[in-house]
Amino acid sequence: MMHTTTIQKKIAVFASGAGSNTEKIIMYFASHPSISISLIVSNKANAGVLKIAANFSIHTLVIEKEKFFTQNAYTDELKNLGIDFIVLAGFLWRIPIKLIEAYSNKIINIHPALLPKYGGKGMYGHYVHEAVIAAKEKESGITIHYVDEQYDHGNIIIQIKCSVAENDTPTSLAEKIHQLEHQFFPSTIEKCLMEQNHSLTL
Ligand code: GRF
Repeated sequence: MMHTTTIQKKIAVFASGAGSNTEKIIMYFASHPSISISLIVSNKANAGVLKIAANFSIHTLVIEKEKFFTQNAYTDELKNLGIDFIVLAGFLWRIPIKLIEAYSNKIINIHPALLPKYGGKGMYGHYVHEAVIAAKEKESGITIHYVDEQYDHGNIIIQIKCSVAENDTPTSLAEKIHQLEHQFFPSTIEKCLMEQNHSLTL
């Protein structure tokens, strides 16, 4: 008798905040045949994203600064849990080189602007949208990219643009951007994994 084994890829999502992207990602992969969201990692014990993880009964890990930056960066824990791929969805700490080396080309991030503009340390959340509006940009958007040891720097996978209207405020622009993120992030994660693993089933 022939046995077919379906390859399973396990994703860990790292997030520091509310977790609206994480929620969309969890929902998108909920009944996926070969990709699962296995772990939610946060650096904040009271982050909204941990409640979302609990609602979906997904395992969580709250990480500590010292261990992350000066010890093993949780690589052993992640490997022991069988994590194949890491998604940063509003995670505010820089990723240590140990983790980048352990997950080479297997960590991606979403940024709420068109990199390389409006990226780097301190450029997150409303700061990004305030800077875009202050510079009177006509367009903004989202960037999904691989992660290297610099903030918002690795190879770009996809960018999706939206227009910035004259009456847009940082809040209204943030809403537009969030919608784009929710629409495109989960399927982009899926595409990256499918491209890296040709035998995955959809
Ligand atoms: C998103 O805008 C993402 O681009 C940025 O952090 C935000 C996270 O939002 N990196 P949420 O917690 O998923 O709602």
